[in-house]
Amino acid sequence: MGAATRAGNRPGLDAPVRIGPLTARNPVFFAPTSVGYADQGVLGDAAVAHYVRRATGGVGAVMTEQIAVAESGWQHARQPGAWHDRHDEGLRRLATGIKEAGALAIAQLSHCGRYAGPWARYAERRRLAPSAVPFLLPVGEVCPDEITPDEIGEVIEDFAAATRRVVAAGFDGIEIHGGSGFLLTGFLSPRTNRRTDAWADGTRFVLDVVRACRTAAGTDTAVGYHIMTDELLPGGYSLEQALALVPRLERAGVDFFRPAAGTFESLKAPQNAGLSAGPDYQRADTHALAEVANVPVLAGGGISTLDQVREVLDAGAATAVAMARPLLADPDWLLKARDGAPPVGCACAPSLCLQTQLTGSVCAAWPEETRGLGHSGQLPPYRPRQETT
Ligand SMILES: Cc1cc2nc3c(=O)[nH]c(=O)nc-3n(C[C@H](O)[C@H](O)[C@H](O)COP(=O)(O)O)c2cc1C
Ligand code: SF4
Repeated sequence: MGAATRAGNRPGLDAPVRIGPLTARNPVFFAPTSVGYADQGVLGDAAVAHYVRRATGGVGAVMTEQIAVAESGWQHARQPGAWHDRHDEGLRRLATGIKEAGALAIAQLSHCGRYAGPWARYAERRRLAPSAVPFLLPVGEVCPDEITPDEIGEVIEDFAAATRRVVAAGFDGIEIHGGSGFLLTGFLSPRTNRRTDAWADGTRFVLDVVRACRTAAGTDTAVGYHIMTDELLPGGYSLEQALALVPRLERAGVDFFRPAAGTFESLKAPQNAGLSAGPDYQRADTHALAEVANVPVLAGGGISTLDQVREVLDAGAATAVAMARPLLADPDWLLKARDGAPPVGCACAPSLCLQTQLTGSVCAAWPEETRGLGHSGQLPPYRPRQETT
């Protein structure tokens, strides 16, 4: 599509936008934000209330936090799962609630590979990675297990089965998690993929996963890809490699991209300190991606004001903006922004939401009584001015 073409057809803040086979009511999306409200992978009242509350705030799409496609790729007990019948009821309630509130429901699907938890029991189970390359966790240095060709086939089928499960539950779309140093990125990185067999070229695994999800999704469901644009480490996966993969991902069936540079590991490297701070901090990679992509690109990262959203959309590279923290802090951010009313600000360091995401995120900006509930699904709604006058 390219930035120039998209600029001629840019969406207004209230204009519907096309994402693959879907139409969102506007281009402001809630980005995947792990809050850990599930219980042993099962979504319940807190998670449903949390996500539906973002949808009633008027966003065009609500993207879920990463949902594990298999127990082997499950990061922690409070992360939702989509590999067993016991997950279906919560997934169905979630998709239904989001859609009834007028937003598209998009499920992010992940296999966290070497980050599978719980960390304290790391040594007891196989932790799957392309190669047995040691890395650092909060518990110290650990070494994952080299995934076998049979296990690779199982994971590809896990992605397909999870796609079928969330589509059957009512989700409009999926986003495949290809970032953070999880299994897909692990295969792409020359630092973590040291294989010499048929999977030495990690693009084969990534493209097989995408094709499997595309087939499982059918034609009415959007399939997105959260793409690591740069590993940000010496000898790591580069922006050039990521851009070269884009047309192949599109041919495999990707309907939209959402970029993010770095992994959990690389963002902790001293030379990358502060890279995820500042306004619109993924702007350069987003524009580079949009130059080569023929499908919509979602911008995100340090975009928190209405002026910034307008500026990003006006620049023409992104079809929509996916915001995480501003909408976690204030689910009515969009309604207030349209009214010119100040949203609840999002600024705390270190971020309380990130510190609490494995046990159930709370936000420093929520009122005390809301924090006490452990989620903000019950925050009273903001009444837009046009409704009150
Ligand atoms: C608490 C928290 C949890 C997150 N969980 C996920 C996740 O599950 N999947 C994902 O792709 N990104 C996740 N992210 C990253 C966000 O989607 C987003 O890219 C990042 O926060 C930058 O956007 P923002 O400045 O609007 O917050 C998370 C971010 C935060 C703050
Ligand atoms: S105010 Fe703090 S805890 Fe709340 S969303 Fe922003 S960074 Fe996270």
